[in-house]
Amino acid sequence: MPIKTFHLPDPNRQPPAEQRRQRALIGGAIEQRRLHGTPSDLKGTFVLDPVYRAEHEGQLRDWCATQDPRPLTIEVGFQMGEFAAAYAAQHPERRYLGFEVRKSYCETASEAFETGGVANARVALVDAREMIPRVLQMGSLDELFVFFPDPWWKPRHVKKRLISPEFVADAAQWLRPGGRLLFKSDVQEYADWAAGIFSADGHFDVERLADPQADIPLTLRERRCRYHGRPTWAVEAKRNLNP
Ligand SMILES: C[S@@+](CC[C@H](N)C(=O)[O-])C[C@H]1O[C@@H](n2cnc3c(N)ncnc32)[C@H](O)[C@@H]1O
Repeated sequence: MPIKTFHLPDPNRQPPAEQRRQRALIGGAIEQRRLHGTPSDLKGTFVLDPVYRAEHEGQLRDWCATQDPRPLTIEVGFQMGEFAAAYAAQHPERRYLGFEVRKSYCETASEAFETGGVANARVALVDAREMIPRVLQMGSLDELFVFFPDPWWKPRHVKKRLISPEFVADAAQWLRPGGRLLFKSDVQEYADWAAGIFSADGHFDVERLADPQADIPLTLRERRCRYHGRPTWAVEAKRNLNP
């Protein structure tokens, strides 16, 4: 049981969805950053910086293009890229695309791809919520992974949580019918809350899975949980045929 309390927001006291979506963005809106921000000196063969390099946004669009027959997996918040490198290596038949808002994590993941000889993976330094709709053809995504996102315990921080009704509604647009959103957490209340949001959205068939699953690698956080004997929870939301 977590020592902290996982705050459940009152849905009647929330600002409108569009306002919530804008307020949640990390680093601010892309167009504003392009006008006023400073490009980073990002390094790495497999890293893309689509906020400041327009050609990188184009490369991301190409990476997600539906002409490529390989199924596309997107992970949001890959942190050190340990899972990313292992999963992409395990699935050379897939395209992997990771999103992170921290430069050093993108560089570390790119290095891991280089070391592991992984060629079917890319990472992008940008808030996934804003970039995915710009580069992905709606209804084409095969898998969306969100593993151990920050629980943001305090009431005033709830708006920072990755899982929200807006994010889940967007994910329903991104995934192909039969595609899946796989969520994991070591905070049981977060897993319960997320499962509730997936079900309430109406576009998903939701199932609680035993964690870890044998067929995919452990993430760094998951490995630490195993080491310390802490349980983890997994929720799979499969995109149904509802329009
Ligand atoms: C707790 S860590 C994830 C742990 C990792 N997935 C694991 O299982 O070991 C959360 C990560 O998500 C990233 N993140 C949070 N919101 C994001 C967003 N909107 N787009 C991209 N990355 C995000 C943070 O920078 C952070 O590295």
